[in-house]
Amino acid sequence: MMEKILMILILLTSLTGVCPRRTTETYVKAGEMVALYCPHDRGSSRGDAKVIWTSYTTQEMDLTDMSSAEQRQMGVLVHGRSLVILSASVNHRGNYSCSLGNASSQFWFRLIVCTTQSREYLKRTQYPQICYTQEACTLNCPEVNVPAVNTPNITTNGIIWHKEGESLPKDGYFSSVEVNDHGEYTCTRSYLYSRQLYNMTFTVLLKIKPKEKSGQSMILSPRKNGVLNVDLGATVVIDCVAVMYSDFDEVFWFDGKSEVKMNNSFPVFYNYTRENNAGEIKMMASLVFKNVSEEDLSKSYTCRLESVSVPSNVTITLAQKASPSSLSLALGIVAVMVVIVVTVVVSVKLKMDIALFLRGTFCCCCSTSDGKSYDAFLMCYKSDTDAGLNEDDRKCLESVLEERFGYSLCLYDRDVLPGKAAAEAVLDCIEQSRTVVLVPTSPDPGPGSGLLSAIHAALVERQTRLVFIQTETTEASRSGSLPEALQLLGKTGHCVTWKGVSSMPHSSSFWKQLRYHLPAPQQASKIKLLP
Ligand SMILES: *[C@@H]1O[C@H](CO)[C@@H](O)[C@H](O)[C@H]1NC(C)=O
Ligand SMILES: *[C@@H]1O[C@H](CO)[C@@H](O)[C@H](O)[C@H]1NC(C)=O
Ligand SMILES: *[C@@H]1O[C@H](CO)[C@@H](O)[C@H](O)[C@H]1NC(C)=O
Ligand SMILES: *[C@@H]1O[C@H](CO)[C@@H](O)[C@H](O)[C@H]1NC(C)=O
Ligand SMILES: *[C@@H]1O[C@H](CO)[C@@H](O)[C@H](O)[C@H]1NC(C)=O
Ligand SMILES: *[C@@H]1O[C@H](CO)[C@@H](O)[C@H](O)[C@H]1NC(C)=O
Ligand SMILES: *[C@@H]1O[C@H](CO)[C@@H](O)[C@H](O)[C@H]1NC(C)=O
Ligand SMILES: *[C@@H]1O[C@H](CO)[C@@H](O)[C@H](O)[C@H]1NC(C)=O
Repeated sequence: MMEKILMILILLTSLTGVCPRRTTETYVKAGEMVALYCPHDRGSSRGDAKVIWTSYTTQEMDLTDMSSAEQRQMGVLVHGRSLVILSASVNHRGNYSCSLGNASSQFWFRLIVCTTQSREYLKRTQYPQICYTQEACTLNCPEVNVPAVNTPNITTNGIIWHKEGESLPKDGYFSSVEVNDHGEYTCTRSYLYSRQLYNMTFTVLLKIKPKEKSGQSMILSPRKNGVLNVDLGATVVIDCVAVMYSDFDEVFWFDGKSEVKMNNSFPVFYNYTRENNAGEIKMMASLVFKNVSEEDLSKSYTCRLESVSVPSNVTITLAQKASPSSLSLALGIVAVMVVIVVTVVVSVKLKMDIALFLRGTFCCCCSTSDGKSYDAFLMCYKSDTDAGLNEDDRKCLESVLEERFGYSLCLYDRDVLPGKAAAEAVLDCIEQSRTVVLVPTSPDPGPGSGLLSAIHAALVERQTRLVFIQTETTEASRSGSLPEALQLLGKTGHCVTWKGVSSMPHSSSFWKQLRYHLPAPQQASKIKLLP
């Protein structure tokens, strides 16, 4: 039984499949005009062939061969490829076909005549149109199944617009359309045929959209270069504010992989507000982190504007704020480094003052038992230039060192015992002194520079501590004018420059430098030795 049904079904499908007929369905309101148009057959090259219209309504009828009187009686008009039904009635519903000659394939039409404004009819004959606020708008009356322009004896009588619920006819043109112009418009096309008006009506559903603007915008707040510094465990809200101009545009939050939930029982969710202000829609989507976790820091969050015009997006990532402990550690390190740098700078600048201060404070009574009788041997030598210290300066130097600073000095003209050979006496003096201070003098009071050469070897051998006083002139001309021995000694010793009057005050840098290079004065030996 089943097999038989199956066989029949297969037979039926194969039968219909043998001759597939594509049928064009046309809806028409009762009493209105409709025109069917026979398409060109691409398979046939016979352009001159006659178009044959056949009606399969009540009975099969060849409409093409009918006289014009018979056609008029039936309320149809055949002209070439067009079949015009002047005023559709129930009698007109059914199938129609057209073919080129008797050889070409047939085209099929099914005319559905709707007696009332049925839902099906409204659905099929309502045409949408969109206009934008503050822009000009021309309503388009559809040209569907209208008679061909060149159909003889049919002339068009214009289009009349009506708005649903309004009695007065409307112009189909708006110079500037507004939102409240939206709604259903009916256009009636009228055609004059043998002094009779035949009508076709269409419904246009006009939608008014806010003017399309390109100036969409998206802003995140708070925002700082796409990175927001947050504390773990904090509650953070990021607002994504988008300005757009279409009702269809939406803003979403994504967490890289998927859309963020809008359910506020999730630890991360978003909610939004939407305001429409004269066509400018402002949507704020707030991404809420109830309790920022490590996982949230590893993701990037994108606020995406899905738009009919230009979609766009902005992305933000969360970063952990520097914790207070690591911040204070960093500050501590910086502070220590600053202290070190300041200390180094100060020590270099004030090394002499510090050394002298320490010496004065802690070393006033310390004595080294090195067996020496003097702190320094002031040895004058003849300066080749006239730039040496004069008699007064030399006296000043001696007295200040001894009386003001308490050094015990060995002076050639005072402490060297007469009767000895000069070199021997000088070497004795050097032996007894911790330092040798070489003083250039203009009138030579001492053993003379010749002696220097004689004792040079001895000085070097004993590694005697040398302080070399020079004047500004000798400093400048030092390399050339000084005796060779002196130059060699100058390299091993410390140099202190006597600047004349400016070096006189006891607080001058000359005294500081000189005292710095001299060892601490040995008070005890001074008391013991000085007469
Ligand atoms: C029109 O043709 C279809 C097949 O295409 C058929 O089902 C229908 O019955 C026909 N209608 C009339 C009124 O002949
Ligand atoms: C087609 O029409 C022509 C005349 O127009 C006729 O001679 C021919 O026999 C017809 N062919 C068929 C298959 O009906
Ligand atoms: C068109 O009208 C003219 C006269 O006005 C008439 O002679 C002719 O037959 C008409 N044509 C059709 C196709 O009805
Ligand atoms: C077409 O409309 C006009 C006016 O709108 C009316 O006078 C005329 O009778 C209508 N024609 C038909 C066939 O209904
Ligand atoms: C945030 O989460 C952490 C761990 O997930 C938890 O210990 C803490 O109590 C939470 N804080 C709040 C305010 O819910
Ligand atoms: C939100 O999520 C919770 C838990 O997943 C669920 O129980 C609840 O039904 C959701 N609420 C809504 C409005 O979807
Ligand atoms: C979104 O959620 C947050 C946190 O629950 C709340 O403070 C805010 O008012 C909500 N916003 C809207 C527009 O619902
Ligand atoms: C964001 O926009 C850029 C272009 O501006 C696009 O390449 C990218 O795929 C978008 N990202 C997301 C997540 O939509």
